[in-house]
Amino acid sequence: MVNNQNIDWEKLHKAAIEIMVKAYVPYSKFPVGVASLVSDGRIVSGCNVENASYGLGLCAECGLVSNLISTGGGKLIATVCVDAKGNFLAPCGRCRQLLFEHGGNEMLLMTPDGPKKMNEMLPWAFGPDDLEKSK
Ligand code: THU
Repeated sequence: MVNNQNIDWEKLHKAAIEIMVKAYVPYSKFPVGVASLVSDGRIVSGCNVENASYGLGLCAECGLVSNLISTGGGKLIATVCVDAKGNFLAPCGRCRQLLFEHGGNEMLLMTPDGPKKMNEMLPWAFGPDDLEKSK
């Protein structure tokens, strides 16, 4: 099991760049790649996949979450999201919510200011616990 003390950020950054170049972005021409370290040590990743029906485009994080679940699930420990230049990119609001579902408040997200906890990137997030509380 990995924890947020032994994160190879360089490896995650490389994995995010490696998948970013595979993005399907004929409309925005804005490729995004994202990679996460999972609690069991594996790395999952995703890139954005756009659509001629513009609003149906899938963000890179959608691909990552799909990859996470289809390869066995687990908890996201740390995430790196990059733009075309390999610079750290702050995931959009919807994607912070997607990441929160599988990483919770403690997941670390790399930013140009260094790693930040999810509860700083998405404070007061709505999540699975809220559904339980109202039962
Ligand atoms: N995009 C992502 O894939 N993830 C984000 O967190 C930010 C935005 C994509 C969506 C669209 O394909 C392109 O970037 C431009 O918005």
